Amino acid sequence: MEIIAIMGSPRRGGNCEVLLDEFLRERGKIQEVKTLIPAQMDIGFCRGCRSCESTGHCVLSDDMQGAADLLMGCKGVILSAPVFFYGFPASMKAFIDRMQFLWSRKYFLKKQFEEKKGFLLSVGATRGKRLFEGVKLTTRYFFDSFGCEYSGDAFFRGFDRKGEIAQCGECLQEVRIKATDFFTSIIKLRGAAGERSENT
Ligand SMILES: Cc1cc2nc3c(=O)[nH]c(=O)nc-3n(C[C@H](O)[C@H](O)[C@H](O)COP(=O)(O)O)c2cc1C
Repeated sequence: MEIIAIMGSPRRGGNCEVLLDEFLRERGKIQEVKTLIPAQMDIGFCRGCRSCESTGHCVLSDDMQGAADLLMGCKGVILSAPVFFYGFPASMKAFIDRMQFLWSRKYFLKKQFEEKKGFLLSVGATRGKRLFEGVKLTTRYFFDSFGCEYSGDAFFRGFDRKGEIAQCGECLQEVRIKATDFFTSIIKLRGAAGERSENT
């Protein structure tokens, strides 16, 4: 699957889903897109057991193995998630904590991952200057766990009611412009990967 979209809000049809749909509409000829919704997945909490540091695998057996395979095999990831208490909703955070086995493969077991790019969309109800600092930092390290470059973001303050961001033309336009740039960079990445495989 070329693009993995993660809808990180537990509220279906809410602001994050509106933003993600708008972003994905700009994907042009990129056909392969799979959407993951952590709130609807079977995800156990990381136990912090550290087994993955030597094995590169998680002791838990649930939907995260499949999700990790998709993330490792893609070219681009778009995460759209709201701010909950200056961080991510619990289901999204559980998903991220379970990436520890990929982090272990990278940093303990020295596995190389193919190049990929990630984009973060986020919404909060309030307007504080530091509103998105938590989700941005967490996303940087989440993306890094599977070799994904944090390549852009779009943040929207002051939206609380379900789906109300759909009425903000300026917001949707910003999303479309950033999405076009992001998908252009994915197409370039695909070209570069093709050239590399032809030369090896
Ligand atoms: C449990 C919970 C915690 C929240 N915490 C914050 C917060 O710390 N700061 C903020 O600005 N908005 C907060 N919000 C508001 C959401 O970020 C906001 O409603 C957002 O638009 C929800 O996106 P969604 O419609 O995609 O679910 C919180 C909402 C909930 C339900």
